[in-house]
Amino acid sequence: MNENVCKKLCDMFSLEGKVVVMTGAAGAIGSELSRGLAEVGAEMVLCDLNQERLDELAEEIKGAGGKAVAKKLNLLNISEIEPCVKEIVEECGKIDVLINMAGINKRQALFDGDEETFDRIIGVNLKGAYFMSQAVAENMKENKNGSIINVASYNAVMMLGGNCIYGASKSGVAALTRSQAIEWAKYGIRSNALSPGHISTVLTAPLWDDPVRSKYMLDRIAMARPGKPEDLLGMTVLLASDASAYMSGMLYHVDGGCLAGGQPWEI
Ligand SMILES: NC(=O)c1ccc[n+]([C@@H]2O[C@H](COP(=O)([O-])OP(=O)(O)OC[C@H]3O[C@@H](n4cnc5c(N)ncnc54)[C@H](O)[C@@H]3O)[C@@H](O)[C@H]2O)c1
Repeated sequence: MNENVCKKLCDMFSLEGKVVVMTGAAGAIGSELSRGLAEVGAEMVLCDLNQERLDELAEEIKGAGGKAVAKKLNLLNISEIEPCVKEIVEECGKIDVLINMAGINKRQALFDGDEETFDRIIGVNLKGAYFMSQAVAENMKENKNGSIINVASYNAVMMLGGNCIYGASKSGVAALTRSQAIEWAKYGIRSNALSPGHISTVLTAPLWDDPVRSKYMLDRIAMARPGKPEDLLGMTVLLASDASAYMSGMLYHVDGGCLAGGQPWEI
């Protein structure tokens, strides 16, 4: 590739020198994106409940020449958030990008929902993202710069059966994104939501492993295949980098043409 083209692209999209904090980093999508972001220069701070997986991932990224540190964090214990963020700022000097990736689901029909499940799903997916953002934005505000990427879902705007609590949490994430965009723009903070379509991971295995449900989903994906975690990397790099300097407050769907209408009938 022409040298000038390479330089221009690098200047726009490179994450070199940026500290990227990601919750849920040990999960399927989180670990794939952490590897990818580290490859384009990000200094990754990997946060998750799962210490063992986090340590393995940090070692793997460092082994490949990238930068990564692991921080155990349980988002259901809100009191853990502030000390964790303080420690990150002390060790890394600043936070440029926050990716609120941690998310859980338990599929229940509306009549079957129980309070404990409701509190856990909302607690991780929405309350966790809210308080993590609040703590990190204090540092971004001081630096007058920052990008927040909240991970939403197809269920933030459409709905699969049995996903009410999860969908409500992800619709809440979309509202949180818009609030952050309008209230924190004056501090140089942008906030956007990455909204994955139907990605094949452990979280969605109960759907992909079921012939009826997997056919239902495939019929609704124009590209006629499940998404892979790596399909989300391009949008994540864009939202984390300066290439998206004027983008804020929006939900970006990466869904293989699902919301566009899925597969057409024979024409
Ligand atoms: N897989 C999909 O098709 C899909 C589609 C749309 C959106 N999403 C969203 O993408 C994100 C990642 O999904 P995934 O498929 O990689 O799931 P995953 O289960 O593989 O990863 C989720 C991670 O969150 C962590 N986590 C759970 N509770 C936590 C807590 N209390 N504190 C800290 N970390 C906690 C888990 O340990 C896990 O590593 C989630 O927000 C999910 O809702 C996934």
